[in-house]
Amino acid sequence: MKQNLISNHVQLDESGKLIHLLGLEGLPKSQLLDILDKASNLLDNNGNLKKSKALDDMSVANLFFEPSTRTRNTFEIAAMRNSANVINVDLANSALKKNEALMDTMHTLKAMQIDMFVIRHKQSGLPHHVAQHLKGVSILNAGDGTNAHPTQALLDMLSIHQHKPNFKDLSVAIVGDITHSRVAHSDIHALKTLGVTDIRLIAPKALQHESERCDTVRCFSDMDLGLKDCDVIMVLRLQKERMLEAEIPNEQEYFENYGLTSERLKLAKKDAIVMHPGPINRGVEIDSTVADCDQSIILQQVTNGIAIRMAVMQILAKNS
Ligand code: NCD
Repeated sequence: MKQNLISNHVQLDESGKLIHLLGLEGLPKSQLLDILDKASNLLDNNGNLKKSKALDDMSVANLFFEPSTRTRNTFEIAAMRNSANVINVDLANSALKKNEALMDTMHTLKAMQIDMFVIRHKQSGLPHHVAQHLKGVSILNAGDGTNAHPTQALLDMLSIHQHKPNFKDLSVAIVGDITHSRVAHSDIHALKTLGVTDIRLIAPKALQHESERCDTVRCFSDMDLGLKDCDVIMVLRLQKERMLEAEIPNEQEYFENYGLTSERLKLAKKDAIVMHPGPINRGVEIDSTVADCDQSIILQQVTNGIAIRMAVMQILAKNS
């Protein structure tokens, strides 16, 4: 098994309490389940989100150095529903453009009495670096390079659990650009922690993550074989922004071999669910009819993202 060089050890204090959320590797199962449980309780029986006063008088800053629709806005809504003050730092017009060092910007924001920082950055390990050097605040990783996207994986687990409560018996297929996907990397950690023993990574060789291969993780280059009788299909976008020009596959060819079509969906179990972290590229990794079919829970994932982010913030607020 590959040993991740970016360590999440600073996310737990000496007594084992969660003080940052940087990644799911090394997060004990009890704490992962606690987050899922809290998030479930934030949804009423109709799937509507509740409100909370848990972060009353606290301030949350969103720092998104990469584009985002779902993650940034659901973090913002989650903070507001927890009664926090939220600022979306206008990075394009910040002092960083006047060559201020990132850590100086972070210390400056901390001096404005920000309690939690939500950070998305193209550099793997950047939130970990900030967590190590900026004391007295909580850092939430909203996606760092190709490394991790812990809240996405947590919302994925909550979404699976709502349809398939028994993780141990599940066959989960993750299809697409595994190499560049921080979502896939965090999902694999979460699925393993929750006891899933049949994880299938389906990708062309160039986008596969062979080093993940182990007793519970199998790699497939043939999509039809990999999808056979699975319960959950997680589809990933081709993350071209992380590929060299020469690595970018021809989209039509890619769709022919790895696009999730209605025909291919029939290879999975009848009641299989289709997931995607978004943004979806219709006709590239997923056919429109599948994205919009009854088995697709893509939009439910988005709503669950608010509950998960609220739950994580509540835990961090209590432990800070
Ligand atoms: C993902 C991300 O940014 O890693 N999206 C998300 O957060 N919902 C996946 C992607 O960009 O393809």
